[in-house]
Formats: sequence, C-alpha cells, structure tokens
Amino acid sequence: MKDKKKLRKEVLNIRKGLSEEEVIRKSKLITEKLISFEGFNNSNFIMAYMDFKNEVMTKFLIDHCLNLGKTVVLPLIDSEDGTKKIFPYELKDREESVKPGTYGILEPVKQFSRKIDPKEIDLVVVPGVAFDVKGGRIGYGAGYYDVFLREVRDDCLKVGIAFDIQVFSSIPKEEHDMLMDAVITESKIYR
Ligand SMILES: Nc1ncnc2c1ncn2[C@@H]1O[C@H](COP(=O)(O)OP(=O)(O)OP(=O)(O)O)[C@@H](O)[C@H]1O
Ligand SMILES: [Mg+2]
Repeated sequence: MKDKKKLRKEVLNIRKGLSEEEVIRKSKLITEKLISFEGFNNSNFIMAYMDFKNEVMTKFLIDHCLNLGKTVVLPLIDSEDGTKKIFPYELKDREESVKPGTYGILEPVKQFSRKIDPKEIDLVVVPGVAFDVKGGRIGYGAGYYDVFLREVRDDCLKVGIAFDIQVFSSIPKEEHDMLMDAVITESKIYR
C-alpha cells in the first residue's frame, strides 16, 4: 500500500529528529501512564519489546514489571515451517539474557529462555511507526504484529505506545490490520 509507505517514511524521519533527552523524558511519561492504566495491575504476563531507533524506550517499564514480580515476555522472530513470525519468550533480566536478533533488535536467547504460550499473555505493549486515535496502527511493514495479535486471548489488552508526533486522526488501514485497545502517548491516552 502506497499511502502506508509514504506515512512510514515521514514519521520515521520526524522521530529520528527527537533528541535522546526528549526520548527519555517522553518515554518516562508514557511509562507512568501505562502503569496506572486500568488493566495493568491485573496483568501478570506482560509482553514488551526492545526499543531501537528512537522508539519509545521500554526499559523503565520492563524494570518496573520485573520489580513487581510480573512475567515479562519479549518477541523473538523465528521460523517454524518456513514462515518467520513472532514467538514470545520470557525475559528473566533485562541486561544479561538478550542478544541481537532480526533487524539487530535485542531478543531473549532461545536456549536460556522459556517459550510462552500466546494465550498466557494478559497485555501486549505494541510498538509502531504510526497510530490513529481509534487504535489503528502502522508498523514497519512485515505484518509480524498483525499475525501475532491474532494468537492472543480475546481479553488480552493490546496497548500501542508512541510519541504524540506518531498519532494521527486517521491512517490508512487494510483488512488484516489489528486494532489497539488503547494508544498511549506522553500527553494522552486514546481508547
Ligand atoms: N493475518 C495475516 N495473515 C497473513 N499475512 C498477513 C496477515 N497480516 C498481515 N499480513 C502480511 O503482512 C504484510 C504487511 O502488513 P502491514 O503493511 O499491515 O504491516 P505492518 O502492520 O506495518 O507491520 P508489523 O505488524 O510487522 O509492524 C501484508 O501485506 C500481508 O501480506
Ligand atoms: Mg498492519
């Protein structure tokens, strides 16, 4: 889809321009909104992601979850019968049990990590390039999350996190695109 591609490029370009200080400050604000979000307390299995390229930083969230004794899960791109897709694996601690995987993004090390059944996950923190105010989402264009989010329980919360500059009143949508239950930015919760 042409429109998606164009928007991806524009947003990524703007996001690249955020300073490290801005990314840290805004990421902390987003984390605070997320951990006081209804549904967070009752979620014991939380799927996060490892940020790269000026995505909302997740280390504040991950450390908070681990301190609370929640199970933190990360996506690992792997292939079973030839198709690459997301498999959730438990993250035991943030610094030691990860290594670069697909796209150079940090992933849990398979051998030392427990594979998690998607049905166990209570809340997925979804990264994205662009979102809209109704929960629409555009990722990097591989469809990984669109496929994965079909595997979680119906009552699993899908929460997109992004900076204000990534949220629009409406974005291009296709049949297969999965909607978020909420989108949280440094200034607002859309739901
Ligand atoms: N449920 C699905 N089953 C099979 N293929 C799918 C499914 N959802 C998406 N895809 C494939 O993924 C491709 C990319 O989808 P899309 O442009 O929505 O990616 P995206 O949402 O930006 O990526 P991502 O989810 O990885 O961040 C689609 O053209 C389609 O071929
Ligand atoms: Mg999509």
